[in-house]
Amino acid sequence: MVEKQKTLFDNFINENTKQSEINNDFLLTNKITYHLGETNTFLNDIADETVHLIVTSPPYNIGKEYEKKKDIKSYLDTQKEVIQELTRVLHPKGSICWQVGNYIKDKEVYPLDIFYYQIFKELGLQLRNRIIWHFGHGLHCKLRFSGRYETLLWFTKNDDYTFNLDPVRVPSKYPGKRHHKGKKKGQISGNPLGKNPSDIWEFVAKEWDLELWDIPNVKSNHPEKTVHPCQFPIELVERCVLAFTNENDFILDPYAGVGSALLAGIKHNRKVIGVEKEKDYIEVGKQRIKDFFLGNLKYRPLGKQVYKPNGKTQVSKVPSEWLEDQNSLYHTKTKT
Ligand SMILES: C[S@@+](CC[C@H](N)C(=O)[O-])C[C@H]1O[C@@H](n2cnc3c(N)ncnc32)[C@H](O)[C@@H]1O
Repeated sequence: MVEKQKTLFDNFINENTKQSEINNDFLLTNKITYHLGETNTFLNDIADETVHLIVTSPPYNIGKEYEKKKDIKSYLDTQKEVIQELTRVLHPKGSICWQVGNYIKDKEVYPLDIFYYQIFKELGLQLRNRIIWHFGHGLHCKLRFSGRYETLLWFTKNDDYTFNLDPVRVPSKYPGKRHHKGKKKGQISGNPLGKNPSDIWEFVAKEWDLELWDIPNVKSNHPEKTVHPCQFPIELVERCVLAFTNENDFILDPYAGVGSALLAGIKHNRKVIGVEKEKDYIEVGKQRIKDFFLGNLKYRPLGKQVYKPNGKTQVSKVPSEWLEDQNSLYHTKTKT
């Protein structure tokens, strides 16, 4: 009896160790691979058509601490080589989600998704959606409107691709709507599982329904914030994981940073592969994965309501100085 219990316990430990073991080198049997090194070199070790989802935010060439700024042409040429390799390792039913913002030179804005689109198209990929990721905070620009979105380009390799709409449906704004004519007159017109969330999403706790992909970007007051200057919010990747893959599929982030995409995959029982050239980020990411398995990781739950000021907190009140200032937008007399 004691022997039997011991075996059961050992199996339990082995099983859980396997689930949470973080490997540096890729093997098809790994649940988690988190490789320290260069993306292009690492990709040589992955066989053709292995990965079901490639989801990443590449370096934007904006001079962050982990990149050297190049002219846009040489930056894109280098990225094209990587994307060619990524296309090779992508499963025929797989997807690539490429999340980018703007490259700025001499105050001129270059929207990177426009440049990247050409590369993917030349490599034969097909665009399914250009998703707007909207966030409410960021730099306040003086010479142009302040940027409050980035884009996520979703490409597939073929027409026959994995797309699971049901796990990412959102509640309908008018669930009581009925057909008002024809054969179905009087019947409910919506879907009891919810509606398609559209290509501009906002995650709201009770009903994800304000039509904007408004996951707060990861800044200092976000529970997931680490030392990394531009992390993915885990919940943004979770949408892609749930919609574009099935359990046990491989997910790859070729620029894995502190492992946000890996965490999104692990949460939903997918096999994950990340590559990152900075050791410090890998260390932070590994600790996040360990914390996740221990139940200690802080993250925004999927679909949690984006904070909206209720007008009662001090910071959301109009200061009395502005109320009295005749030139202010908030001047009480201006309003009447
Ligand atoms: C925009 S960040 C991605 C952050 C990531 N999404 C996260 O949530 O932590 C890009 C990352 O790519 C890494 N990187 C840049 N060039 C690389 C290369 N050639 N090989 C591997 N990693 C690279 C950078 O160190 C950086 O951490």
